[in-house]
Amino acid sequence: MIGTLVIATVVLLYIFVQRRFRFFEKNGIPFEPGYFPFGSLIYWKMITGQVALFSITKSIYEKHPNAKAVGYYGILGKPHLVICDLDLAKKVMVRDFDHFVDRPFADGIHPDANKYFCKMLTVLKGDEWKAIRNLVSPIFTSGKIKATVPVINQVASELADYIDQRVIGETSTDNKDIFQKYSIEVLGRLGCGVEPKILTDNNPDKNVFYQKALELSGGGKPNLVTVFKFIVTLIFPTIAYYSKMSAFEPEPINFMGALISNAIKDRQATKVKKSDLIDFLKDAIKEFEQSNPNGMSEGEITELIIANGLLLFFAGTDTSSSALSIVMHFMAKNPDLQEKLYREIKDAIEENNGNANLDYTTLNGLKFMGSVIKESLRFWGFNFLDRTCTKDYHMPELNATIPKGMQVTVAGASIMQDEKFFPDTQTFDPEAHFEDESLYPASFMAFGQGPRNCIGMRFAYMVVRACLVHTLANYKVEPCPKTITDWEIDPLHPSALPKGGLYVKYTRRE
Ligand code: HEM
Repeated sequence: MIGTLVIATVVLLYIFVQRRFRFFEKNGIPFEPGYFPFGSLIYWKMITGQVALFSITKSIYEKHPNAKAVGYYGILGKPHLVICDLDLAKKVMVRDFDHFVDRPFADGIHPDANKYFCKMLTVLKGDEWKAIRNLVSPIFTSGKIKATVPVINQVASELADYIDQRVIGETSTDNKDIFQKYSIEVLGRLGCGVEPKILTDNNPDKNVFYQKALELSGGGKPNLVTVFKFIVTLIFPTIAYYSKMSAFEPEPINFMGALISNAIKDRQATKVKKSDLIDFLKDAIKEFEQSNPNGMSEGEITELIIANGLLLFFAGTDTSSSALSIVMHFMAKNPDLQEKLYREIKDAIEENNGNANLDYTTLNGLKFMGSVIKESLRFWGFNFLDRTCTKDYHMPELNATIPKGMQVTVAGASIMQDEKFFPDTQTFDPEAHFEDESLYPASFMAFGQGPRNCIGMRFAYMVVRACLVHTLANYKVEPCPKTITDWEIDPLHPSALPKGGLYVKYTRRE
């Protein structure tokens, strides 16, 4: 009896999945065929760790050079659409954004297991997302970012001292290691209301805040449990939701949450105000609450501040430290470009009376540095631009209608490495690729596009720019024996950095 039931279930499932496998063919959309039960071959390779999740998009883009969009199937025949055409990508992300408001990752987040996480901007959906995005946006105006620059400069100067005392003399230095100490310190001070003092600690690697932050992000090194949980939440959201899987380790989240909560209480008690993201967020929420007739309780406001303070920490530390690591890798590989950047930095410091603490406007005015950062992010080859179709959407380009619920991924990294938009794409060439201003808005996808793009982009540029000023003004970077020659993203690396890591040698400038 049980045997018959099992066989009947498998047969029914098989029929159901085979039907799903017909979707793209029926709609005349180019596709990667699906095989029961794991879907397209590329998806199977991802499940078995042969390719990274984000490489699915890249490999599909390369295999279908002339397609505007390509379909593939996930587990049990779940259809996914990869957008390869830049104009179509713009429609999805900008013009017709109201059909693609949500991110699929949100589906696997159960509130019981993810108390703060489910309130974060990245996973919120529909109107709730819109309300919180409007609420958080004012904390990233240029006036507010300007006010954070002194803290960023202070930490960048601590990093320069750290390099002097601990890095000089090493034959090879892991960029990710030093820059994540820096970015965690910056976001710890500005996003969590504490001074972790990682870079001045006698034992920086044992600094409690630093360790908790690393536990949260997977440590910047391959951590199978973190990768596993992330993948389950992303590709089996129903399982993650009903098994109440916490997308991140609860312990470090609670630790950070308690720090933010204490900072809020402290400020309430002492009435001291700081120019940091917590106070900006608190003011923004209070303002929002005043104009909201239903109002939020004090507890709800605190939870919202903690959730989004944590989010800024999450979204900002790993990305910024990876960006810096990549810039330093390319500066070591391209001494002429490094010299040019050094001269730009040196001139700006001289004009600032020899002071390396440049202000917001001067940092933003370092034109060549801007091109170097953009080119590094372009070259990286990692980008995660996922949306869920929230209303049926007709694409005349495909002569097909994308149904509500379908997952859509914009091939941002591949567009940024396409000869059509960036000629000689495998050459690191900041000026050629980013001199033409009109190129930038159209095909530069490193921070996403449209209403759901990276809210912290301008702040991120400050974090990266100030750090480059303080480090490159004092030190030269050179290739070392561990500097990689081939750029291939490690599928198991939680920060999506290349295999072999990003090592260089630091020497003092005389
Ligand atoms: C170089 C550093 C960074 C890179 C490359 C980066 C990249 C991205 C990308 C690609 C997205 C998705 C955009 C989309 O779906 O269209 C995103 C979203 C986001 N980023 Fe960043 N980011 C960086 C730094 C930061 C920083 C420093 C913060 C905050 C302190 C931040 C906060 C966010 C948030 C909150 C979102 C979600 C926005 C939403 O869903 O409405 N990011 N980022």
